[in-house]
Amino acid sequence: MTTPSYDAIILGAGAAGLFCAAQAGQRGLRVLLIDHAPKVAEKIRISGGGRCNFTNRELDVRQPHRHFVGQNPQFCRSALSRYTPADFIALMERHGIAYHEKHKGQLFADRSAEDIIAMLLAECAAGGVERWQPCKVGSVGHGEGGYLLATDRGPVRAANLVIATGGLSIPKIGATDFGYRLAQQFGLPLVERTPGLVPLTFDGDAWAPYAQLSGLALPVEISTGSKKERMSFHEDLLFTHRGLSGPAVLQISSYWQPGTPLSINLAPNVDLAAELARAKLRSRKLIANELTAWLPSRLADAWVAQDSEWQRPIAEASDKALNRLAERLSRWEITPNGSEGYRKAEVTLGGVDTRALSQQSMECKAQPGLFCIGEVVDITGWLGGYNFQWAWASAHACANSL
Ligand code: FDA
Repeated sequence: MTTPSYDAIILGAGAAGLFCAAQAGQRGLRVLLIDHAPKVAEKIRISGGGRCNFTNRELDVRQPHRHFVGQNPQFCRSALSRYTPADFIALMERHGIAYHEKHKGQLFADRSAEDIIAMLLAECAAGGVERWQPCKVGSVGHGEGGYLLATDRGPVRAANLVIATGGLSIPKIGATDFGYRLAQQFGLPLVERTPGLVPLTFDGDAWAPYAQLSGLALPVEISTGSKKERMSFHEDLLFTHRGLSGPAVLQISSYWQPGTPLSINLAPNVDLAAELARAKLRSRKLIANELTAWLPSRLADAWVAQDSEWQRPIAEASDKALNRLAERLSRWEITPNGSEGYRKAEVTLGGVDTRALSQQSMECKAQPGLFCIGEVVDITGWLGGYNFQWAWASAHACANSL
């Protein structure tokens, strides 16, 4: 029997793989899409609380470093400027999928992420894409006839091979390191991988005073890094049993370096020292009660419990004690002992080094016909639809170069 042959084999039927397959198929190429999981696009399915935050209107393609992390965020500029959020929105509209904006430019499907998956599958069908799923890939070789893959459905070959196997987060829904291993097999350098957009954890004893706050959420300003490379976000913080989560912490986690502290302003919209000084002159209430003007009462109670000088009527508190309280609340310095890891991370930082890839096509410079797209590349977006936009844009760049 002759080995089936395609113009392109795409490994990974996630966001990037499906989109790339559809576009390449619609350009007239014979495309085979392979995934080891029984279902396509599990991450789209669970994303955005089941509604998929599919892009972000605030993406500024001229300044990718504002919303993307990696050794060279400028790498994604070319692909992002050729396939923009407006392009994906237009595709959604052509398929009649209603969407809405939630927060800071984040766009979500009105009904369900399933609508976006169905749209991508319809686009693949329009391109005549063949799909092998579930299908395990064993060895991958490269010779005169292109790429030869041994799979549990038999051998298959193609002139082009696209690695779209994503990152390491949430292994229970199919994430593997296959793409990174394949990249290494072909000599591509990798940037060290770590969990990104991930809740951070704290040492048990140090966390004990805050463990009772589990479930509490409030808007904060959170920062990390030295003065020169300071990164800050204004977002909601969520206390958990083991540490901190919520958009504020997920965002900062992509910049946080182990062993360094986070600085959190728990009352970012007021000058707390001035407010407490004013309250001292007019109020007979306990300090904890005064604090509830700016903080949730559970947080105010837990905070004053840390110092006996804060457990009294504000009129009787010393200026020094009030200043110390304001300082602690507006510059709470706390050092995580780690993160919740890939089990809870939304993305993987690091990956295939962009220096090995063409920013026009995503093709490996030293390995013709081999392409890397989506999260497997060392480009990670902020929370808010940026990672899917990178998946669409890198897939589009690749599909038009195959
Ligand atoms: P993706 O992970 O989508 O696809 C990779 C595919 O490769 C999978 O289908 C997998 O089964 C397959 N694969 C893996 N190993 C294989 C192997 N050995 N052989 C064959 N196939 C293999 N982003 C965003 O912009 N907005 C959002 O709302 C969210 N929300 C969100 C929630 C949660 C819980 C997570 C975990 C992540 C998000 N993200 C997100 C991130 C986003 O899901 C992610 O960046 C993209 O899905 C990446 O697209 P890829 O196609 O690169 O990988």
